[in-house]
Amino acid sequence: MSEQQLFKVTIDNITIEVPAGTSILEAARKIGGEVAPPAMCFYSKLKGSGGKCRTCLVEVSKGSEKDPRPMPKLVASCRTTVMDGMEVKNITSPKVIDARAGVVEFLLLNHPLDCPICDQAGECHLQDLSYEHGKEGTRYEFQRRKFKKYDLGPYIQLHMTRCIMCFRCVYTADQLTENRVHGVLDRGDHAEIATFIEKSLDNDFIGNVIDVCPVGALTDKTFRFKNRVWFLKPMDAHRDCPKCSGKVTLWNRGEEVFRVTARKDEWGEVEDWICNECRFEKKHSSDWVIEGPREISRHSVISQGHYVHTVTPTETFKAVNDGRAPHLLLDIHTESDVNKPEIELSLINGPAHSNNFNSK
Ligand code: SF4
Ligand code: FES
Repeated sequence: MSEQQLFKVTIDNITIEVPAGTSILEAARKIGGEVAPPAMCFYSKLKGSGGKCRTCLVEVSKGSEKDPRPMPKLVASCRTTVMDGMEVKNITSPKVIDARAGVVEFLLLNHPLDCPICDQAGECHLQDLSYEHGKEGTRYEFQRRKFKKYDLGPYIQLHMTRCIMCFRCVYTADQLTENRVHGVLDRGDHAEIATFIEKSLDNDFIGNVIDVCPVGALTDKTFRFKNRVWFLKPMDAHRDCPKCSGKVTLWNRGEEVFRVTARKDEWGEVEDWICNECRFEKKHSSDWVIEGPREISRHSVISQGHYVHTVTPTETFKAVNDGRAPHLLLDIHTESDVNKPEIELSLINGPAHSNNFNSK
């Protein structure tokens, strides 16, 4: 068997080796953290995805060992493969940060700022991008595009006004179901996701379009307006399902299951596609074998108040304070009198509740 050729690539001053053919974005994800550019349209599990939104732009400051010339323009990292000796700048490039702010401004041209009433709020990639790169005002003077809400079958609603035309849902329907009946109609400013002759999408796996949509354009009708995601407690659970892996995340409040989604990895991508029956019809805890709390990135608003898997630091104060010992050390928990001393917040499963704290 021939050995796989490895290329050395340096992204934001960190060098790794990846197989030839890897995209810059995937190489950056291997490094992880902020080095990985944001991606609104690329989805590693969908063939042909990427190249639409331009949020993943990076600067290639050295093309390769053989041809060290920099690339003249910023490139979409999801669609550009690494070369041996390539040097890439993402967060270390002011040009990239500036261009990304421009891309976010473009994406928001027609996007309504209805986060307060949008079901995707709290887990919306565009919301995160806007917080990181957005401007407080808009320079757009024209009327925004407006569309009626459409029901795509009995369980999914399309809010085309929020769509950023990433094509992920179209690829999902194409690649997961045998019979795609929705797609993109028209071009440019008129382009829209539409179902041909309003046919309902009743394929067993079509619910996955909700999970791949990076914004709140495709929402779960069984969950719409029922709760905010950050009030819910995500739990990993599974069931014996003849159609899919049956591995899901349940979003509970108390015993009540508010919604069921596929499990998502650190890049917000689905780990295993799930079927409609698991997603829309199994809304009782008794339908599931509960595995335990889902770990949510601590940067997500959903993790606020969730103390699962927090680690008590082992360093002493002196060690993290350049060797200087404090003059006075107070325990904020005892001083503030807010916590109950007998309750260890890091051991609570799920969000802390008011009765975990002193009521005074
Ligand atoms: S509906 Fe969502 S997934 Fe589909 S193209 Fe629009 S933003 Fe992308
Ligand atoms: S993620 Fe690369 S262009 Fe959209």
